[in-house]
Amino acid sequence: MNNSAEFSARDKEFIKTAKEILSHKRVKLMKNFTQHGDVSCYQHCTMVCLYAYLYAKRLGWDIDVKALVRGALLHDFFLYDWHDQAFTPDGLHGFSHPITAERNARNTFPLTKKERNIISNHMWPLTLTRIPDSKEAWLVCMADKYCSLKETLLKNPY
Ligand SMILES: [Fe+2]
Ligand SMILES: [Fe+2]
Repeated sequence: MNNSAEFSARDKEFIKTAKEILSHKRVKLMKNFTQHGDVSCYQHCTMVCLYAYLYAKRLGWDIDVKALVRGALLHDFFLYDWHDQAFTPDGLHGFSHPITAERNARNTFPLTKKERNIISNHMWPLTLTRIPDSKEAWLVCMADKYCSLKETLLKNPY
């Protein structure tokens, strides 16, 4: 195996942190809810996490891997079917679900301010005043747009 095929310390941290979040019983509930097409919220969050990490690698950005992974995997942790429930107690789904997801995430895991902001600000520019405020938040915001578009337009996006 040559060097490029080996896992770096950063890659290992990515995998370890992702496993911790994805194996949680409450996070697995996201498998029950559709995000776009045939893609569940669980799969969507996993792919956003992966793309956000790959963007960081491609850009050569020095990032907080743990914050990126936790924020990305929990960014759509709203736990309801938005196709049936466009209006929620927190407001209209498109605008309000980052608030719902952030609350669910904070009630499930001890989160840092950066991790909470990644979740709260991922729908910018729709949520005009909630702007990504870290490199990690920008990466998740961009990966979310890319994955959402793929999932909406393609029959087999992944
Ligand atoms: Fe979202
Ligand atoms: Fe999303």
